[in-house]
Amino acid sequence: MGEGRQHMRSSERGFAMPEIGRRQALGVAGVAACGLALAGCGADAAEPERAQGIKGQVIAKTADVPVGGGTVVDRWRIVVTQPTEGVYKAFSAVCPHRGCAVGLPKENVMTCPCHGSEFAADTGKALTGPATGQLTAYQVKVEGDGIVVV
Ligand code: FES
Repeated sequence: MGEGRQHMRSSERGFAMPEIGRRQALGVAGVAACGLALAGCGADAAEPERAQGIKGQVIAKTADVPVGGGTVVDRWRIVVTQPTEGVYKAFSAVCPHRGCAVGLPKENVMTCPCHGSEFAADTGKALTGPATGQLTAYQVKVEGDGIVVV
């Protein structure tokens, strides 16, 4: 947001200068448009879709998912958690703020390294911003020693 405003200010100054060339003016206009686009992305912009072909797949082994912690499955950008003993959850690891990958859960909280949003390992809901949405949830079940998407 702040960046966008900065671009707007510099473009306003640029257009006010009479000696500015057409080429420079176009360049400044491009930056201004970019700034506006970024401003539009200020709210939760990333709306991750569920990974294709994931249904029925074993995404993790129960042994790899500690209680209160979890594991990130890079192939599908999914974080699998075990908020309480024997309860497994899976969420898209894509932060709803701007799409960074959230980190492993620690004490049932996943933190996004980009801007520090925190998400609950049991619901995927944002606990602290800037993200206000939640991580997309996947329904999972345990089959043997594997965690399967249903
Ligand atoms: S991308 Fe900004 S908090 Fe995650």
